[in-house]
Amino acid sequence: MPRTRASAPPGATEVSNVPFSGGVHAPGRARIAARTLREDRWWLQPFVTFVCFSAWLLYGLVRASLQRDYFVADYGYLTPFYSPCLSTSCVPGSTHFGTPFGEWPALIPFAALTLPFLLLFRLTCYYYRGAYYRSVWQAPTACAVAEPHATYTGETRLPLIIQNTHRYFFYIAGIISVINTYDAIVAFQSPSGFGFGLGNVILVVNVVMLWVYTLSCHSCRHVVGGRLKHFSKHPIRYWMWGQISKLNTRHKLYAWVTLGTLMLTDFYIMLVASGTINDLRFIG
Ligand code: FES
Repeated sequence: MPRTRASAPPGATEVSNVPFSGGVHAPGRARIAARTLREDRWWLQPFVTFVCFSAWLLYGLVRASLQRDYFVADYGYLTPFYSPCLSTSCVPGSTHFGTPFGEWPALIPFAALTLPFLLLFRLTCYYYRGAYYRSVWQAPTACAVAEPHATYTGETRLPLIIQNTHRYFFYIAGIISVINTYDAIVAFQSPSGFGFGLGNVILVVNVVMLWVYTLSCHSCRHVVGGRLKHFSKHPIRYWMWGQISKLNTRHKLYAWVTLGTLMLTDFYIMLVASGTINDLRFIG
């Protein structure tokens, strides 16, 4: 039985299942004057998401612009925000991959080499899309809440069609994760020999979580096991696909955890590099 106007919930001025087009009254959506009839705090989650994303972006941009306190020469700690440092302008010892770029232009952050790709990797991530479509784009802000946009074209036109480039940023993020892994390993070898401290633990945890996040990516799952017609003929890929699928179920969690570990790693290295605190050393 189709729903009739007589069954309209309290607060609704008119309810109908008659399709009509245009604006927020998309086909199948009830014609309701109020933006929503929800009475719970539906705005809280998108609001918290917006605040957290903004805070992280602000922190990252400020740190990338500072151009200092990114390397602890005594222990070989290099923050992931400045890796790889490929210029003669970098602090001595921080150029793990040489200096192919010579002098670095004064006003351009070292992070300009990698940070844009990492940001685009996250910006086009399937989870983050869902999160900022709600909290920033408001398309829609929450279930059963009318969106402010007059039309909905999904990801079929510019600019959102660019989201389809995610797999390419996945490849670049994989390369950057290899670089971060190398940074974490060489940090066990300081100028005075082998040693490790709290900074090493933080660097290793960060790099492990970066790998977990990167490998749990939907594009990674597709690259490994997608388009296979017969899993039985590709047992190794099938096994890898199964493992990545398990990680993939927690992709959202890893997306948030890695924002935290990245910020914490950079913050700790900044404090030690600036002399604000001493690294807690366990050996060496
Ligand atoms: S889907 Fe999130 S990183 Fe690829």
